[in-house]
Amino acid sequence: MKSYLRPLGQSELKLSPLGLGCWQFSKGQGTVGKFWPSMDDQLTNDIIATSLKGGINWFDTAEIYGGGESETAVANALYSLNASPQEARIATKWWPLMRRASSISKTIDSRLAALRGRPIDLYQIHQPLSFSSVENQMKEMAKLYEKGLIKAIGVSNFNAKSMKKAHAVLQSYGLPLASNQVKFSLLDRSIEGNHVLETARDLGISIIAYSPLEQGLLTGKFHHNPSLVEQASGMRKFQKKFSEEGLNQTRPLIDVLESLGNKYGVSASQIALNWIISYHGDTVFAIPGASKVSHAQENIGALTFQMTKDELEHISYMSWQVIRNKLAHK
Ligand SMILES: NC(=O)c1ccc[n+]([C@@H]2O[C@H](COP(=O)([O-])OP(=O)(O)OC[C@H]3O[C@@H](n4cnc5c(N)ncnc54)[C@H](OP(=O)(O)O)[C@@H]3O)[C@@H](O)[C@H]2O)c1
Repeated sequence: MKSYLRPLGQSELKLSPLGLGCWQFSKGQGTVGKFWPSMDDQLTNDIIATSLKGGINWFDTAEIYGGGESETAVANALYSLNASPQEARIATKWWPLMRRASSISKTIDSRLAALRGRPIDLYQIHQPLSFSSVENQMKEMAKLYEKGLIKAIGVSNFNAKSMKKAHAVLQSYGLPLASNQVKFSLLDRSIEGNHVLETARDLGISIIAYSPLEQGLLTGKFHHNPSLVEQASGMRKFQKKFSEEGLNQTRPLIDVLESLGNKYGVSASQIALNWIISYHGDTVFAIPGASKVSHAQENIGALTFQMTKDELEHISYMSWQVIRNKLAHK
C-alpha cells in the first residue's frame, strides 16, 4: 500500500489512512485523561515527529483529553517541529454531555486557544449524549464552518440513525458530514452489523476507527508477556479481554497476525492496522495511539505494504471466529 492521502468523506480534507490518536497526551488530567500516565513534552514531540516523518498528516485530539492538555501538547509539538497547518491537520472534538448545542459556538475560542491558534480541520461531536438535539448541534457546526473556523464536520460514537440525521441537517446547508469516529478493530466489528458502516458507505461518510489495536491487545505483547497486564494503565487490568482466559481466547487471532507478519517482515500490530484501513476499501481511517516512539515508528509501517484479498479475508474469517468464540463464552 502506498502512503497516499484519501479524501475524508466528501469534505475537502485529504488525510493519510492512519492518523495519530492523541488521547495519550492528556497529561494524566481529568476523568478521561487520567487513563494514560502523564507524558513529558519531549516524548510527545518525538512521537509526533516520528508520525509526521512516516507519512501521517493528521492528529486526533479532543477537549475532554485533559481539558485541552492534549490539544496544547499537539500544538506545541507541531510549532516546535515547524510543521505547517497544511502538513499537519488537526481533528478535535466538542464534549456534549450536560451541555446545550449553543456551547459549540461559545467554547470555540477556548478550543482555538488550547490549540494555540492552530486551525481546526475537523471538528467532531464527541458522543451522542447531550441536552440538545443532533439537529441543533449540526446547525451550530454549520455556523462555525460558515465563519471559516472549522474546515470539516464530523461526529463520533453516533449510531446509524443519528449519523443519518446529522448528514441530512448538514445537507440542508450544502455541507457534508465528513466522518463518524467509532470503535472498530479485529476484536470489535459491531459497526459491520449495526448498519453504521453500511450507512456511512451509502452516504459517502468516512469511518475513523478508534482503539484499532484494542488498546494494545492486538499487538500480541500481552499474549507473549501476560505480566504486562498488571502494569497497563487505565481499566485494562480489570477487563476480561486482558485476563488469562481472555488472552487465551484471542491467541489464535494473534497467531494468524504473526504468521502473516512473518511473510511481509512486519509485526502483528502492522498487520492489524493494515487490515483495518484496507478491508473496507478507502472508507475506514484509523487512529492508533502511542505512548512510545517505537509504537509510532512501528504503527506507521502499516502504511508500507499491501496484503492480497485472500489474506485480508483469512484475517477477517479468523477475527469472526475469535469474536464468536468469545461471545459463546460470555
Ligand atoms: N471518539 C472516542 O470516543 C474515542 C475513544 C477512544 C479513543 N479515541 C481516539 O483513538 C485513539 C486510539 O485509541 P486507543 O488509544 O484507545 O487505543 P489503541 O490505539 O488501540 O491503543 C493504543 C495503545 O496501544 C499500545 N500500543 C500502540 N501501538 C503499539 C505498538 N506498536 N506496540 C506495542 N504497543 C502499542 C499502547 O499502550 P501502552 O501505552 O499501554 O503501551 C498505546 O497507548 C486515541 O488516542 C483517541 O485519539 C477516541
